[in-house]
Amino acid sequence: MLKLDNVCYSVNENGKQKDILKNINLEIGDNETVVITGHNGSGKSTLMKIIMGIIPVSSGKIYFDGVNITNMTITNRAKLGISYAFQTPVRFKGLTVKDLLTSANNSNLKVMDVCNYLSKVGLCARDYIDRELDDSLSGGELKRIEIATTLARNAKLNMFDEPEAGIDLWSFEGLISAFNENKQKNGGANLIISHQEKILNIADKIVVMDNSKISMYGKKDEILPNLNSKRYCSRLQGDYYE
Ligand SMILES: Nc1ncnc2c1ncn2[C@@H]1O[C@H](COP(=O)(O)OP(=O)(O)O)[C@@H](O)[C@H]1O
Ligand SMILES: [Mg+2]
Repeated sequence: MLKLDNVCYSVNENGKQKDILKNINLEIGDNETVVITGHNGSGKSTLMKIIMGIIPVSSGKIYFDGVNITNMTITNRAKLGISYAFQTPVRFKGLTVKDLLTSANNSNLKVMDVCNYLSKVGLCARDYIDRELDDSLSGGELKRIEIATTLARNAKLNMFDEPEAGIDLWSFEGLISAFNENKQKNGGANLIISHQEKILNIADKIVVMDNSKISMYGKKDEILPNLNSKRYCSRLQGDYYE
C-alpha cells in the first residue's frame, strides 16, 4: 500500500544543514498495523507529516498503491485515501462535533453513527455531539474527537500520532478494537506512533526510530523483546513504558 524509498528530510538551521530524517525505507502492506516508536525528537511526527504531504521530502520517493505521490498535495493524498490525526489537534471555532464528523465521512452520517464513533474513543456522545470545537474543550477531549474524526473518514491508510495522549486506560479497548476494525473493514492499514505497550501489542510490524533513522524494523515478535531489554528501556527512560 505505502512505500517509502530512501526518504530524507533536512532543514537549514543557522546556515547549517540539519538532517531530521535520514534514508527512510519502509513498506506498509494492506491489512497491516505498523507502530512507530522511539525517543522524543527521533523524527516520528516528521515522518507522518511527510507521508501526508504537510512537509515536502528533501530527497527520496513515496508511493501509495503504486502511484508516485512524492509531489502530490495534501488534498490529493487525502482523496487517494490517506488520513492523519495530528499529535496536537487543531480547534475549529463555530463547528460542532457532529458537523466535523459528518464532513469527514463525506456523507450524511446519522446521529447514531456519530455516537458510535465518539463512543469508540470513550466519549459519552450525548454530551459532545452538539459541542463546538472551541477553547472550552480540553486537550484530551479534542484529541479524542480528532481520533473519532479520522475513524469516520474511513480512509485506506489511517495515521495516528500518539493517540494514547488523550485516552485514559479505561477507554483503550474501544480504541484498539477501532484500529483492528479499520484494517479489516477497509482492507486498509494503520500507521500509529505510540509508546504504549497495549498499542505495540496490536502491531503486525514495529518500527523503532533513533536519531533521524530507522534503527529496528520487523515483525512485532522479533522487535518487542528488544524493546523490553534493559538497555533499551534505560535509554528511553521516561519516554517508553512510562
Ligand atoms: N522545521 C524544523 N526546523 C528545525 N528542526 C525541526 C523542524 N522540524 C522538526 N525539527 C526537529 O526535528 C526533530 C524531530 O522532530 P519530530 O519529528 O517532531 O520528533 P518526534 O515526533 O520523534 O518526537 C526534533 O529535534 C525537532 O526539534
Ligand atoms: Mg512527535
